[in-house]
Amino acid sequence: MITVDVDLPDGRGYPVLVGAGARHQIEELLPSDCRRVAVITQELIPVELDLDREHRVLHIGDGEPHKSLRTVEQLCSELARWGLTRADCIVGLGGGLVTDVAGFVASVYHRGVAVVHVPTTLLGQIDAAIGGKTGVNLPEGKNLVGAYWQPSAVLCDTEALATLPEREWRCGTGELAKYHWLGGGRLDELPLDQRVAACVRIKAEVVADDERESGNRALLNYGHTLAHAIEVAGGHDLRHGEAVAVGLVFAAELAASLGRIEPAAVAEHRRVIEGYGLSAVLPQGLACEELLQLMARDKKVLADGLTFVLDGPDGLEVVSGIDAGVVRSTLEAFA
Ligand code: GLY
Repeated sequence: MITVDVDLPDGRGYPVLVGAGARHQIEELLPSDCRRVAVITQELIPVELDLDREHRVLHIGDGEPHKSLRTVEQLCSELARWGLTRADCIVGLGGGLVTDVAGFVASVYHRGVAVVHVPTTLLGQIDAAIGGKTGVNLPEGKNLVGAYWQPSAVLCDTEALATLPEREWRCGTGELAKYHWLGGGRLDELPLDQRVAACVRIKAEVVADDERESGNRALLNYGHTLAHAIEVAGGHDLRHGEAVAVGLVFAAELAASLGRIEPAAVAEHRRVIEGYGLSAVLPQGLACEELLQLMARDKKVLADGLTFVLDGPDGLEVVSGIDAGVVRSTLEAFA
């Protein structure tokens, strides 16, 4: 078993356990004075947790529409009817949607109760469940309501990854690929447990350095600017991780257009993405102009220049004021 510590001030640091069977260590990682445990999960996820304390399983529905304030209210009501107290604990067992919602419920129920995450997807284990970002969607947009609420522990049981549907696996891999340029190096050469742990270690360092995203945490959004635009323009035909894979290669092309990296570095982006079996090609039928507008978000940005996380001589960096004409021509050549 590999343990990675997320070092945070004020006694809020926590361990992330990575390895086959990590879920069996849950009892040791629950707060000692917690009497009851509410496990928030989804119907199709097997609850294979060895809990010795009184516990109850609460389900949330599948799909983004369930990542809502209504779900949060329903869960809080169920917790209140059961009598969960401030000293008890919530466990989020599932993918990113589940841990985002469970974490948000934990942040607001009784003004905050402890939460332990047991992410069951690759995306959850390497990213979503670590770092304390929680939240739900509004009709106006994704993740618009939320809180930073750090878990007390995270258990990344790599046994759960063996049964992931292929597309879910691919989505996680798209998000994993970004860590190659966040100091991960040739992650694709590592065995799975070590690869997951390496990503967790990088994320832990980034979060410890910039918990509230006032600086370097934004680097975790490498590849996401075009990815979000593809998701919106394509009506979510491509899932997030698949769109991030395309976004990473585009970001490399843009960095090369700006003279920040050599063609060999672009080729390395393609090698990694394609090596993971991901497509590095913009989906057919998306208009470059619409993608550009979505990436800029408003006209003022189009005039002042766009912001991207880009590779460069000193590694990744948030670069602002990028001329819209360069982004447009790179996108047209990429399409
Ligand atoms: N998923 C990006 C972050 O946690 O900041």
